[in-house]
Amino acid sequence: MAVRVLLPPPRRWFLLSSLLLVVAAAVPVVHGYGGGGGLTVGFYKESCPEAEKIVRKVVAAAVHDDPTTTAPLLRLHFHDCFVRGCEGSVLINSTKKNTAEKDAKPNHTLDAYDVIDAIKEKLEHKCPATVSCTDILAIAARDAVSLATKAVRQGRWSKDGNLYEVETGRRDGRVSSAKEAVTYLPDSFDGIRRLITRFASKGLSLKDLAVLSGAHALGNTHCPSIAKRLRNFTAHHNTDPTLDATYAAGLRRQCRSAKDNTTQLEMVPGSSTTFDATYYGLVAERKGMFHSDEALLRNDVTRGLVYEYMRSEESFLRDFGVSMVNMGRVGVLTGSQGEIRRTCALVN
Ligand code: HEM
Ligand SMILES: *[C@@H]1O[C@H](CO)[C@@H](O)[C@H](O)[C@H]1NC(C)=O
Ligand SMILES: *[C@@H]1O[C@H](CO)[C@@H](O)[C@H](O)[C@H]1NC(C)=O
Ligand SMILES: *[C@@H]1O[C@H](CO)[C@@H](O)[C@H](O)[C@H]1NC(C)=O
Ligand SMILES: *[C@@H]1O[C@H](CO)[C@@H](O)[C@H](O)[C@H]1NC(C)=O
Repeated sequence: MAVRVLLPPPRRWFLLSSLLLVVAAAVPVVHGYGGGGGLTVGFYKESCPEAEKIVRKVVAAAVHDDPTTTAPLLRLHFHDCFVRGCEGSVLINSTKKNTAEKDAKPNHTLDAYDVIDAIKEKLEHKCPATVSCTDILAIAARDAVSLATKAVRQGRWSKDGNLYEVETGRRDGRVSSAKEAVTYLPDSFDGIRRLITRFASKGLSLKDLAVLSGAHALGNTHCPSIAKRLRNFTAHHNTDPTLDATYAAGLRRQCRSAKDNTTQLEMVPGSSTTFDATYYGLVAERKGMFHSDEALLRNDVTRGLVYEYMRSEESFLRDFGVSMVNMGRVGVLTGSQGEIRRTCALVN
């Protein structure tokens, strides 16, 4: 099927969608598509009743100081869950004997470790050795994306100011490996089959892939992640032919060199701190930043979802919460497995 480019939805849709958002708030939250995996909403209700409130406070202060903090907080949780499972390995520092995930190449620009450390310090003070670092990542990601979503901020989505209810009860692992990060993290040049396989290996569906890719509504990238698309792409094409030519020319002007790792490129130009469905409009117009974004158009299911989310922000936001819960269940340690790290960068 040929790729169709659809126009943005008409204005009246936004009015209608505002009404729908209010209705959506009354619908019970669905906790993922699968089983609970041993996690629950409000795991710290008794052991540390203020845990989620404390996380929210620190995240809100950080985001207030610098709205670009939301993106790395969301991405950290993703990187945590895709290497081993959601067990905090992304936070562990390298040692003389071990190069940790933090120092793997795909870390590129992972950031916001300081926010996680500040949260952990407050939680250790309030409830020592109780709240895991990996749960902090999950809660902080939920808070970051909630704070970046207009309908949520304005109270049109939920009463508690959250885009979705986050499950907790994960425990921290003791291993972190740079090599595993290189193996398991998706690459910006991955094609659709590779992406589907990677997500399937984590028990995640095509729908999870399509909707979680919408995280690229937030944040920035750097030239090395897209350089191959811009110059000397193949013998026949100077530029990746799946990238809009005018858009590519603009990116080429900003990325003079493939090695430039300082220039920041907004994933969604002009709106990289607002979480919404604009990413899908860009993808449909062949202005997705990565080959892996464009790849969503190469499968019937994921392409259908690109168009659905482009038309319905409500549908995107609702499904995003469900898929975040799914991602948050990947390879978790519960019960007496693992540990509760005292310092997120160090195993106990
Ligand atoms: C589907 C496969 C994915 C690939 C190939 C991918 C790849 C990337 C790459 C290459 C960057 C830019 C790094 C840089 O140049 O600095 C990036 C940024 C980002 N990714 Fe993904 N990603 C994927 C899925 C996800 C998921 C599932 C999430 C979260 C749920 C996510 C959240 C983010 C965010 C928020 C940023 C911006 C970070 C910032 O501004 O600091 N990504 N991603
Ligand atoms: C972990 O590494 C970072 C960066 O090298 C450093 O700033 C931080 O102090 C380290 N944390 C611990 C607990 O050693
Ligand atoms: C990412 O890894 C590189 C080494 O490959 C390291 O120099 C850099 O400090 C790491 N970045 C972060 C934010 O930890
Ligand atoms: C890319 O192509 C240009 C000419 O279009 C050439 O000057 C340049 O050396 C090539 N770069 C690489 C890395 O092959
Ligand atoms: C950025 O590029 C410079 C020069 O190529 C290099 O020295 C530096 O280590 C790079 N920084 C990161 C974080 O990769």
